[in-house]
Amino acid sequence: DWSMDSYVDRAVEEIRAKVGDKRVLMALSGGVDSSVTAALIHRAIGDRLTCVFVDHGLLRLGEGEQVMEMFDGVFHMDIRKLDKSDRFFALLRDVVDPEIKRKRIGSEFVKVFDEMAKELGDYEFLGQGTLYTDIIESGTKTAATIKSHHNVGGLPKDMRFELIEPLRSLFKDEARALGEELGLPHAFVWRQPFPGPGLAIRVMGEVTPERVAILQKADAIVREEVLKNGLDKEIWQYFAVLTDTHSVGVMGDERTYFATVAIRAVTSRDGMTAEFAHIPYDILSVMSNRICNEVAGVNRVVYDVTSKPPATIEWE
Ligand code: XMP
Repeated sequence: DWSMDSYVDRAVEEIRAKVGDKRVLMALSGGVDSSVTAALIHRAIGDRLTCVFVDHGLLRLGEGEQVMEMFDGVFHMDIRKLDKSDRFFALLRDVVDPEIKRKRIGSEFVKVFDEMAKELGDYEFLGQGTLYTDIIESGTKTAATIKSHHNVGGLPKDMRFELIEPLRSLFKDEARALGEELGLPHAFVWRQPFPGPGLAIRVMGEVTPERVAILQKADAIVREEVLKNGLDKEIWQYFAVLTDTHSVGVMGDERTYFATVAIRAVTSRDGMTAEFAHIPYDILSVMSNRICNEVAGVNRVVYDVTSKPPATIEWE
């Protein structure tokens, strides 16, 4: 695409002019915006970009590996993956309120990033995946927050970075197109939205490693079946939720008392309103059978047939 092509050239020039021979630090969330930003800054200054990828243990199945494979394996970026899931799970122990989950995850994320930044030292610039819509929404042109977690926390006061925000004039779809232009895989840049606090807000009730593992497996099955049946083009978001309901089931001669998984899938234009997706019953049936058979601890699957409003897309 001609216009994206020249956009890349111009953005690369601007980043080089601004950064000079200094270095840029960036928090990578695995989301589209920060990934495209990283790829663009890397195109401009190569190894003088360092990416910090904080794994909070709340990513979807295989997601952390996928991000590393891409940025480390394909792009050969300087990317440091920090497995901090223990810290996050410790903070989430006994927490059931979704707002508290969000706050704790957000502030811990900033803390981990801050520690790493101090350890690495000597960075003048901070790369961020701020989009045009983020600027409009936040109503400020200097929102010094880590974007993917913008609803949960900002940077510590003593961090003195100058911001590099090469996507700040772009809409989401343009950022995705830019990502493709930079060589990120099509399926990656056109991925469905995923909340910053990750699976913590899709686990109803307490977030434990065991419960997250159950959700990861169920969610992977939902995603796999949607993709296999080519439904991802019509559906805006599709995922599994681990409810806090347990109910009686039978398995062979045994009575079980296991968790209920909810499948959530919606069509939408922008996430502001949404309708539950009319997934064919035979596909829901495959998802349900597979989840009960393949995911230990689950004996019941329900389909969420609520639109937004009155419900939201996420359960929280
Ligand atoms: P709700 O659940 O409010 O969600 O209908 C609307 C859209 O926003 C996404 N979402 C988030 N995206 N950080 C994000 O970047 C977040 O913390 C977050 N929480 C919700 C949600 O997946 C849906 O697409």
